[in-house]
Amino acid sequence: MRTCKIRTTLDECLNPGVRHNFHGEQVKASSTRTPQKKTLLNTKNPAKNITSAGRTNSYSGCHRSTEVATEDKELTHVGAGTPCGEYLRRFWLPVALTSQLTDLPLALRVMGEDLVMFHDLSGRIGLLHKACSHRRTSLEYDVISERGIRCCYHGWLFDVDGKILETPGEPENSPIKGNLCQGAYPVREYKGLDFA
Ligand code: FES
Repeated sequence: MRTCKIRTTLDECLNPGVRHNFHGEQVKASSTRTPQKKTLLNTKNPAKNITSAGRTNSYSGCHRSTEVATEDKELTHVGAGTPCGEYLRRFWLPVALTSQLTDLPLALRVMGEDLVMFHDLSGRIGLLHKACSHRRTSLEYDVISERGIRCCYHGWLFDVDGKILETPGEPENSPIKGNLCQGAYPVREYKGLDFA
């Protein structure tokens, strides 16, 4: 009768000297196999796990600590105002493909900042903070104009450099235009990539 593979393996483990042929029948073992010695690791003195060639033994890594070091925020945070973030903002970074720009503003999140990118109708590329500096409406839903982008809520018009060009609804002599500026980054296009 054919014995299942698990049973024959178990049988061989429990009775050293017993072997099974391909059909699962017991056969006499020609010699008793000496069980292989399992390489034990020296957990008390880990230095002994290092071979004479200066390499660690196989499987020795499982005894290493899996604790993750605490985060060093000075190195890992790249948002605006953080040391690394301010450093990285001094370089041109690719943020989008020119082919992604359509007749609608493109919402982006770059280094923790929410931004919108667009081509205005005169062909200039703008990259502005997503939240409107008036009432924080998302500029993602704005209307692209001949010059810049117009907020969909109260109609403020922002140029590609963040300058406020129009503030409809405000008094004629309102100082807002001169005192406020929407957050913006300069953009350069190179071979289909937009760098900011
Ligand atoms: S919220 Fe944008 S113009 Fe008022």
